Amino acid sequence: MRLRKVVTAEVATDDPTGGADEARPVGAPAAVDDRPAVIDLAGVGKEYPGPPRTRALQDIDLVVPRGDFVAVVGPSGSGKSTLLNLVGALDRPTEGTLRIAGHDVARLADVDLAGLRGRQIGFVFQSFNLLDGVDATENVALGLLYGGVPRRQRRARSLDALDRVGLAERARHRPTHLSGGERQRVAIARALVHEPSLLLADEPTGNLDSRNGAAILELFERLHGEGSTIVLITHDPGIAAGLPRCVTLRDGRVERDDQRGPARLAAPAAVPTGAGVDR
Ligand SMILES: Nc1ncnc2c1ncn2[C@@H]1O[C@H](COP(=O)(O)OP(=O)(O)OP(=O)(O)O)[C@@H](O)[C@H]1O
Ligand SMILES: [Mg+2]
Repeated sequence: MRLRKVVTAEVATDDPTGGADEARPVGAPAAVDDRPAVIDLAGVGKEYPGPPRTRALQDIDLVVPRGDFVAVVGPSGSGKSTLLNLVGALDRPTEGTLRIAGHDVARLADVDLAGLRGRQIGFVFQSFNLLDGVDATENVALGLLYGGVPRRQRRARSLDALDRVGLAERARHRPTHLSGGERQRVAIARALVHEPSLLLADEPTGNLDSRNGAAILELFERLHGEGSTIVLITHDPGIAAGLPRCVTLRDGRVERDDQRGPARLAAPAAVPTGAGVDR
């Protein structure tokens, strides 16, 4: 079992909260590696008020150091999306302490939580959450709302992000005129467009065929190689087995936390090495 960290993560200089909370108190257990914790949950629980009242998570102790690449697996209803929503600053725990990039979320106002999310976190939703009324480029540009990026640059960066997921030719399409896999890739482009240090993805390959799924994983692997911390929910045992760390949830608790070393995300055998996303 991984011991808790003493250090807190550095935060971006443009951080809306003006800096991290105080460091962990002296006397806390020693760290096992010296990478700062990007995500740190201690005794975290989440109960949805309902009705009916539902306990989705309990007693979660989990530290994700900077640069980790973690799969989260578990049966449907085990709490995976709930956990990702918490670490993505989309929701707050009902018990325990959650720190994101060193910030205790309980101490942040909603507006600061939104700022943290907007600047440092890229989130790929299980249900995509795209706006139907605007095209793919505008959807991706929403990922830049917090950056103060001028409109023209927002457009250029959106097109670049769409190109990275192989969707440059669908830039003017509205989500309703895209396939499920293409919508998923727009959602991924939106999560990437502001170059977040923490990328959270809820089943990002769930609607993709093996070729496009492999290309998305290669993209994630590249981002990981460039220093991003990535947490990815998957139902695919092959994907989970290829990642350096795999956290298994069951009934709202961490059942296992397996660490295996460096990522080895090979494309499936049927896909030639280096194959791009379908265009
Ligand atoms: N907004 C909500 N209000 C009430 N209960 C909820 C809410 N969201 C999730 N739940 C419940 O919390 C539990 C965990 O749900 P969660 O969506 O985190 O599961 P999951 O592991 O992501 O499942 P799946 O693999 O099907 O996506 C489930 O029992 C679910 O019914
Ligand atoms: Mg889910």
